[in-house]
Amino acid sequence: MIDAIISQDLETIKNAVTSDALAEKKVLVTGGAGFIGSWLCDVLIGFGNEVTVIDDLSTGRIKNIDHLTENSKFKLIKSDVCRFKTADKFEIILHMAGHASPDEYQQHPIETLRTSAKGTENMAEIARKNDALLLFASTSEVYGDAEVVPTPESYWGKVNPIGPRSCYDEGKRFAEALLMAYGKQYGLNVRAPRIFNSYGPRLREDGLYGRAMSRFILQAQTNQPITIYGDGKQTRSFCYITDTVTGLLLLTKSKEAKCEVVNIGNSQEKTILELANKIKELTKSKSPVTFCALPKDDPKRRCPNTDKLEKLVGWKPNVTFEDGLKRTIKWFAQK
Ligand SMILES: NC(=O)c1ccc[n+]([C@@H]2O[C@H](COP(=O)([O-])OP(=O)(O)OC[C@H]3O[C@@H](n4cnc5c(N)ncnc54)[C@H](O)[C@@H]3O)[C@@H](O)[C@H]2O)c1
Repeated sequence: MIDAIISQDLETIKNAVTSDALAEKKVLVTGGAGFIGSWLCDVLIGFGNEVTVIDDLSTGRIKNIDHLTENSKFKLIKSDVCRFKTADKFEIILHMAGHASPDEYQQHPIETLRTSAKGTENMAEIARKNDALLLFASTSEVYGDAEVVPTPESYWGKVNPIGPRSCYDEGKRFAEALLMAYGKQYGLNVRAPRIFNSYGPRLREDGLYGRAMSRFILQAQTNQPITIYGDGKQTRSFCYITDTVTGLLLLTKSKEAKCEVVNIGNSQEKTILELANKIKELTKSKSPVTFCALPKDDPKRRCPNTDKLEKLVGWKPNVTFEDGLKRTIKWFAQK
């Protein structure tokens, strides 16, 4: 599904990335029916690439890409990324498949670990056979409950290896280590952006799949209680989707990003309570703000140091917290 807000945002990304070195390529996008993956597909198709999506539709939605299915350069294959086999040739693999919502991945810890481990190994092998570039969607969660904030890539993290979030955190950490090993041993052209809370149109808001931002917007728009875990003093840094996707594609194009891990996120750090109150204000909602038990191992602060990305590709976030939030709220209201 595409609408005026998404169309405008796609133009913003295309102008920031430009198609040189990213046109007429054969690209495999895993998780392409998901939030970030579907934006990547739109931009890549817009640049004239051939795009194949592998998605098991476990958390993604067909409606994110239904407008592309008639395009002769677009192909959707419903498959688990761990089992996918192909004789097709690809020049670029954008490996986005994963379980990204904390409530959802904690319900499916084995699938989450398997997708990061076996799925990433499978993608690395396909990339190796094709001599393709492989970009893997890593996460700020590799830092766990970070003690250094804003967090640079040089910080190794503080992760509970057996806690409720470990299926996600350790899965992504393993995948990063695996890709660096493929880079070292086989010379594979890999890179692993560490994405910090991205948001915008197409972010799922329903049930287990909702993230704090989309869940709060839905609750505010329906005047239901806004449910904060803990006292709301924990912080997150929210990066609007145009900035996230621009960063991902600039990293894909960058020769210097080979075998690098790189933070992508907005360093405007906000408490969860600030987020809830701002959403309430912007939606003119009557929702009360309520507080529930804080889940185990919830990180206290999360904010990226993005100097490396800026140095590598000249990227800086362009969308402020308030502007991105207004745009996202408008999109949810018209849904
Ligand atoms: N959105 C964020 O803020 C954020 C932050 C950090 C990292 N990431 C990472 O970026 C990637 C995309 O996140 P998103 O927010 O778009 O999530 P999403 O859930 O919207 O998209 C993930 C997609 O992967 C698919 N998928 C999951 N397991 C699969 C499997 N085994 N085989 C095939 N397809 C599978 C899902 O169906 C979905 O379409 C994920 O890997 C996530 O861990 C996202």
